[in-house]
Amino acid sequence: MRPDEPLKHASARRPPADRVMATSLCPSTVKGAGVTNRDWKIVNPGGSRRVVVTKELPGERWLWFLTAADCRVEIAQGDDILAAPELQAAFGDHVDAAIGQLTEAWSADTLGALAAAGALIYSQFAVGYDNVDVAAATRLHLPVGNTPGVLTETTAEMAVALTFAAARRIPEGDRVMRAGAYHGWLPSMLLGNLLSRGTLGIVGAGRIGAAYARMMVEGHKMDLLYYDVRRNEELETHVAEYAAFLVAHGERPVTCRRAEALLELLGASDVVSIHAALTPETRHLIGALELAAMKEGAVLVNASRGALLDEGALVAHCRAHSRFRAGLDVYESEPAMAPGLAALENVVLVPHLGSATTWTREGMATLAAANAAAILQGWPVWPAVAGREDVLPFLEEEKPPRAAPSIVNADALGLPRFAAGPPAKEDHQ
Ligand code: DGY
Repeated sequence: MRPDEPLKHASARRPPADRVMATSLCPSTVKGAGVTNRDWKIVNPGGSRRVVVTKELPGERWLWFLTAADCRVEIAQGDDILAAPELQAAFGDHVDAAIGQLTEAWSADTLGALAAAGALIYSQFAVGYDNVDVAAATRLHLPVGNTPGVLTETTAEMAVALTFAAARRIPEGDRVMRAGAYHGWLPSMLLGNLLSRGTLGIVGAGRIGAAYARMMVEGHKMDLLYYDVRRNEELETHVAEYAAFLVAHGERPVTCRRAEALLELLGASDVVSIHAALTPETRHLIGALELAAMKEGAVLVNASRGALLDEGALVAHCRAHSRFRAGLDVYESEPAMAPGLAALENVVLVPHLGSATTWTREGMATLAAANAAAILQGWPVWPAVAGREDVLPFLEEEKPPRAAPSIVNADALGLPRFAAGPPAKEDHQ
């Protein structure tokens, strides 16, 4: 399978049955002795390495990676977010690794406490890591793992769903039906936007942005504008080849162009979808000025990180422009929303569900655990090919590679890479 092919598997293959048995060795629940009275589920209590996991994770394969590395796995119970004092208390006198969530603040202090407790890695159950002070982790010589390669199409599909939900006013129609307010077909009821052959603007043309662009361009023959500090030649070539295909079938081609400036893209696009990473520089990338530059009836989608968009400015803009529509998966101060957002009819809201498919979430759990297990066993890091990660061997093979799938500060820490080329026999378990 080519690394950039869409991942279509319905669910990841489970480890062999004898290994599943091994993962469920004596799971038990104990009361925490920390700053809260939280319950912790303990899996493989006799394991020689201690791994703290701050939420229950989906699937079973992830536990196999950890128990195969002789880890005792301690899983926090409950849906509430662990704050810094509780995270630090959970590390105790000694911990070998922590697997955490994007909702937690992995600050320099917390990472310092993790390193001081002897941990060799912090592994995040997410591809994004704006909640992690990676520079501090690097200073502490602490590898930071993440989970690229399994969220791409899933998150792009959510952005597509939000695009159409907003453009075609799906939640408004749903509310009409549920309220018993549909009294018969009307010529001008809930008119939305036709997207076919319109102009699509993507802000950030990395993995997810490019996947979303391909879905919208190929599915709806939209012309593409993208704004990114880096040129995406692969995406440009892809669209050019699709344009040639259209011409060969007697149709007008589509176009693809990298915009010189963000305002240029915003002013020209019928749909704008945000796919940039959140950094101090990209915070509020889209604010009042940028919204004012957009077309009156444009659709704005954000399935990346909430703080890329000034949510207060969006509320004001949507109030003043009823034909403008937005589809949001992420929020500036999750789980809170800006005052007034929930009351807007022209905004579609979902609770950070971009990666919420069974296959993806189980894959994320597997990669997060594989990162921790590999670093604890002194294994190298899987070759980095940004945007084209082929992590399927970790998800599917009975003998997955003896490597950490993704460590974001691997190069900064000088961690060895898994040898390129066909893997040698001894590189697999
Ligand atoms: C991530 O992994 O960063 C996503 O936001 C989870 O949906």
